[in-house]
Amino acid sequence: MVIGVPKEIKNNENRVALTPAGVTELRKYGHTVYVQVNAGVSSGFEDAEYIASGAQMLPTIEEVYGIAEMIMKVKEPIASEYNLIKENQLLFTYFHFASSEELTNAMLERGAVCLAYETVERPDRSLPLLVPMSEVAGRMAVQEGAKYLEKPLKGRGILLGGVPGVKPANVLVLGGGIVGTQAAKMAAGLGAHVTIMDVSLPRLRYLSDIMPPNVDTMMSNEYNIRAMVKECDLIIGAVLIPGAKAPHLVTRDMLKLMRSGTVLVDVAVDQGGCIETCHPTTHEDPTFIIDDVVHYCVANMPGAVPYTSTVALTNATLPYALQLANKGWQQACRDNMDLQLGLNVVEGKVVYAGVAEAFGLPLTDVNSVLTAESALA
Ligand SMILES: NC(=O)c1ccc[n+]([C@@H]2O[C@H](COP(=O)([O-])OP(=O)(O)OC[C@H]3O[C@@H](n4cnc5c(N)ncnc54)[C@H](O)[C@@H]3O)[C@@H](O)[C@H]2O)c1
Repeated sequence: MVIGVPKEIKNNENRVALTPAGVTELRKYGHTVYVQVNAGVSSGFEDAEYIASGAQMLPTIEEVYGIAEMIMKVKEPIASEYNLIKENQLLFTYFHFASSEELTNAMLERGAVCLAYETVERPDRSLPLLVPMSEVAGRMAVQEGAKYLEKPLKGRGILLGGVPGVKPANVLVLGGGIVGTQAAKMAAGLGAHVTIMDVSLPRLRYLSDIMPPNVDTMMSNEYNIRAMVKECDLIIGAVLIPGAKAPHLVTRDMLKLMRSGTVLVDVAVDQGGCIETCHPTTHEDPTFIIDDVVHYCVANMPGAVPYTSTVALTNATLPYALQLANKGWQQACRDNMDLQLGLNVVEGKVVYAGVAEAFGLPLTDVNSVLTAESALA
């Protein structure tokens, strides 16, 4: 198959969909890989490394879209890319269709095959192409929290791990899923005293078994949260209720109970946030202060560490990309249910229920597109 990797052009997106290691793997199976010049530079991958791995470099995005049967990207195409997309072209990237009617209509019009990273799903309902970014955000939450606890950045002026003779900081992690687990591990590793709250008892039992001794588990409820916020230095919001807005677990009035310089990192801000006073911020201006409490609410945290994020993401996407390239999208999606669930928009039809519901569009049975003749089977 002919695979194209354009340079990401969405504002502040520094990741790339394929590393030189990925090129090597695809080449092993006889595929041809075209990469746009400088596509990997912001993630730390030079053109020369791609060339050494067997990629062919193309100077413009038009040439990449023009030649490729499968486009591998990170972010959804933006308006200036719509017209470059060809009928039956396979696009393997994050789309988040339900949040953009314009994008959905554009992809329907172009007649492309849109396989969305975010809906590729395992039988245990986990989302393998979202997990790596949650892992990055969870670990980063502690790094950022530790930084903003420093006095010059308006924090309480406390070192997470303390020193001999001085107590460590108290860290509260709300939600013990992927983000929360990674955050708790990092904070515990730095020597902080950590409490993880979740509403799932089986999850708390599991976390209690695997976490180091400086991590406690606690049931998440208003009473417990209200009691804990008084003595916490860093609070990390990491809850998720699939398909719903995050619940406001830390309410406006609780800020008054906190000590001056407490830091809140609301990783769940992309789903509305679990801290009432949070609103999305950017890497350029990541924090704001309310009632002497520092709020960090960057909606795309992994964007600040593109090397780690690119490698983490491509570790997860490459095995699927290989299946798509080796078998063609129809056979790959017939053979692998994970991939089949990634199909959202196929050759002018919506095949994913969530997207059809979001915009009142007719839903086509995915099996009909998997058996139909396609220009790119
Ligand atoms: N800001 C960013 O850059 C960024 C990056 C990655 C992920 N995220 C977001 O982080 C959030 C967490 O993602 P995840 O992958 O860890 O999800 P996850 O599904 O793995 O974990 C969510 C956890 O929240 C728990 N939960 C639900 N309701 C709760 C409540 N009332 N109190 C306490 N816990 C509760 C669930 O039981 C689950 O264990 C999501 O909103 C995700 O979109 C943000």
